[in-house]
Amino acid sequence: MNLSQKLSLPIFKTISEIADKEQMEVYAVGGFVRDVILERPIKDIDFVVLGNGIDLATKVATALGKKKYLSVFKNFGTAMIKTKGLEFEFVGARKESYRRESRKPIVEDGTIEDDQNRRDFTINAMSISLNKWNWGDLIDPFNGLSDLEAKILKTPLEPDVTYSDDPLRMLRAIRFASQLNFKIETNSLEAIKKNKKRIEIISKERVTEELNKILACEKPSVGFDLLYKTELLQILLPEISDLQGVEEVEGQSHKDNFYHTIEVVDNLSKHSKNLWLRWAALLHDIGKPASKRFDKQVGWTFHGHEFKGSKMVPTLFKRLKLPLNDKMKYVQKMVMLSSRPAALTKEDVSDSAIRRLLFDAGDDIDDLMMLVEADITTKNAFKKKKYLSNFKIVRKKLVELEEKDRIRNFQPPISGEEIISTFDLKPCKEVGLIKSAIKEAILDGEIANEYEAAKSFMIKKGLELGLQSKL
Ligand code: CTP
Repeated sequence: MNLSQKLSLPIFKTISEIADKEQMEVYAVGGFVRDVILERPIKDIDFVVLGNGIDLATKVATALGKKKYLSVFKNFGTAMIKTKGLEFEFVGARKESYRRESRKPIVEDGTIEDDQNRRDFTINAMSISLNKWNWGDLIDPFNGLSDLEAKILKTPLEPDVTYSDDPLRMLRAIRFASQLNFKIETNSLEAIKKNKKRIEIISKERVTEELNKILACEKPSVGFDLLYKTELLQILLPEISDLQGVEEVEGQSHKDNFYHTIEVVDNLSKHSKNLWLRWAALLHDIGKPASKRFDKQVGWTFHGHEFKGSKMVPTLFKRLKLPLNDKMKYVQKMVMLSSRPAALTKEDVSDSAIRRLLFDAGDDIDDLMMLVEADITTKNAFKKKKYLSNFKIVRKKLVELEEKDRIRNFQPPISGEEIISTFDLKPCKEVGLIKSAIKEAILDGEIANEYEAAKSFMIKKGLELGLQSKL
C-alpha cells in the first residue's frame, strides 16, 4: 500500500530530500499513520530516523527557516520542531520500548523493525517510508491496517511483554477502545486483568491524563465499563467501583449506582464537553455507599450522600494529582448541589427555595441543571417525560426569579462600611449579623434586592439589636 497522497505537508518533502542527501532512512510513524488512515485530525507527527534524530531535525529546521522553533533534548536523543498547532518530533530508531514521555535515555540504536516491535499496539506500529526510493510505502509488520479495519486493539508482541514494557499501555488500550470504538482483543484483555497491579508503578499524572482522555470521549461509559471489567477501576477509582452492585432486602432493591453513574456521564457528554462537569457527573453519587440505609417503611435511602460525596472530592483529587483549585471547588459544588433541583419540582415549592439554589449555584446554575437532567436514567418513558418537564418548570422559575431579583451574582446591596458608619461602630459582630440578615431577607423574598429596601431593613435590624442610627 502506498500512502503518498497523505504526505501533502511541505515538511515531508524537505525531510525526504535531506534524508536522501545524508543517506539516512526516515519514516513517519505511530499515531500519525493510524490517524491519517482513519482520517482523524493530526496534532503531532513522529519521525524515526536510522541515525541521528537531532541532526536530521536541525537540518530540517534550518532548511525550513524554523530554527527558532527547534528544541533539542540531547540526553534523550530527540528533537522537536513546533509550528502552528503541529509538533514534529524526531528520534533515532531504538531497540527498547518506545514512549514519548519516557525520561530514559536511548541506549542502543535499532532498526525500523526493532522500533516497531516495541510499540504499544499493532495499529500504532505502522510506518510510512519517506525516502525517495520508497516514498509513501506503508510498512506494516503486524497487520495494523487489518486491525484498524476490524477495529481491534492488539499488541505487537505477547501482551504480557508489551504491557510490562510500560504498564500505562493497559490504560491506553482502554482509552483507545473508548475513543475509537474498538474492541480489545481477548488475550490482551486477559493480560490487562492479570497485570492490573502494575499500574501502581505509573505516575499519577500519566494515569490521570488517560482518565481525562476517557472522560473526554463521546461515550465515556465504554472506557469506564472496561476499567471496571479489567479491575483497574478498583485500583484507580475505588470510589466509583464501590458504586457497583444491587442489594435486596425484603424484596426491595436499589439501582446499580455504577451503571447508573456511567450512563449519567454519557448523557451529560451529549450536551457538554466541559471536562470538570464530566468529572462532577462521574463523582455525583460517590457518597452513596457510605450513606445507604434500609428502612422498612420507605425502602432504600441515601440521605446526605451529596454532602458526603462532596467531602470525598478533595481526597480523590489529591490522590489523582488533579488540580486542587477552583476546578476542584466547582466539582465539589456540583456534587453537593446535585439533588437540590429535584427537590424543587414539588408543586408548592417556594420562591425562596429557588432563590437559595440560585445563590448557592451562582453562575454555575446552567451546568447544574444540565447535570441533573443527565441524571435521569429511568427506562420508564412516562417517568422520564415527567421528570424532564418538572426540570423545565424549575428552569423557567429560575429565569423569572433571576430577572426579578438578580441572585446569581449576589452582591450585598449594603456594604459593611455603610453599616459601620450608619451606627457609628467599630468592626464588630453586629456588622456581620446585619449583613447576613439583609441577605437572608432578600433570599426569603421579604425585601427586594435593592439599595433602598436594604437600607430601611438595615436600620430596622440595627434598632432591634439595640444600636443607634446616626441617620
Ligand atoms: N507509544 C507506545 N507506548 C506508549 C506511548 C506511546 O508505544 N506508552 C508509541 C505508539 O506507537 C504511539 C506513539 O508512541 O502511537 C506516539 O505516542 P503518543 O503521541 O503518546 O500517542 P498517540 O498514539 O499519537 O495518540 P494520542 O496522541 O491520542 O495520545
